[in-house]
Amino acid sequence: MGRPYVFITRKLPDDIVAPLYDKYDVNMWPHEHLAVPRDVLFKEAKQAEALITMLSDHIDDELLRQSPKLRIVANVAVGYDNIDIEAAAKRGVIVCNTPDVLTETTADLTFALLLATARRIIEAAEFVKEGKWKSWGPLLLAGTDVHHKTIGIVGMGKIGQAVAHRAKGFHMRVLYYNRSRNMEAERTLGATYCSFDELLEQADFVVCLAPLTNETYQLFNSRAFMKMKSSAIFINVGRGAVVDEKALYDALIDGQIAGAGLDVFVEEPIHSDHPLLQLPNVVALPHIGSATKETRYAMMQLCCRNVIAVLEGRKPYTAVQS
Ligand code: DGY
Repeated sequence: MGRPYVFITRKLPDDIVAPLYDKYDVNMWPHEHLAVPRDVLFKEAKQAEALITMLSDHIDDELLRQSPKLRIVANVAVGYDNIDIEAAAKRGVIVCNTPDVLTETTADLTFALLLATARRIIEAAEFVKEGKWKSWGPLLLAGTDVHHKTIGIVGMGKIGQAVAHRAKGFHMRVLYYNRSRNMEAERTLGATYCSFDELLEQADFVVCLAPLTNETYQLFNSRAFMKMKSSAIFINVGRGAVVDEKALYDALIDGQIAGAGLDVFVEEPIHSDHPLLQLPNVVALPHIGSATKETRYAMMQLCCRNVIAVLEGRKPYTAVQS
């Protein structure tokens, strides 16, 4: 019997995948910044016992059906909306994600994006580099305060809680909305659970960290933006499709809200001519929530450990429950 075949859908650092090379036949899509084409993915998955995937790969029923040997899909992300979990469970394929290792890093980015949007940091930095700074001005690039304001966190999982922790350092009042109450966040951080509408009405910063599910799809629609304060800033580090982007654009243009900081989009990469990117009060990032070297290494390592565990017949470390 040959060695199990493992396909990795993006070029990962050699030292990270070395433990896999020792045990298995491993093939890696050779590009770091280019997604594997679907036909190549299908061809590879057909022979693979394990796949290490990125959040940009669609692991759907059709692919799973044509991958008879597949035992594990290890996704280099905490979110797994790119994978049909039910179809995988039906076929006995274990799906793993990368929780915990990215919590603090993603919370850092969320707070950085909030600060950057509120204090117009990107705009200000470009202003200096473009030679537009002629003199100090009383209201030059004046933003809005973050400290002592109200933050409303939608999706109070581990990352939400870590964001709340940072918000407390800024003396913010923390509201949250989640499918279930997070008693730890209430006890340790004084976070207040409220309804979605109450949060929208009261928060100065509405921060979306919700995963994409049938329930959260376009949760932020025109009705939601209408409920927000006209001074509110919307931050999204969850998933793009939790937002109706047309409704967000209209809300920004009509002054229903004051600004948006977005790390995720319905279509990634977002086109540079997308209407949202033309607005001065939008700060847009290329889905870098967990992008530090330390954390991305930890995520990739965890995927390798999950693959080895499953291929050796052991329990994976971080399986997603269907
Ligand atoms: C994840 O892991 O789901 C994040 O979106 C990555 O930044």
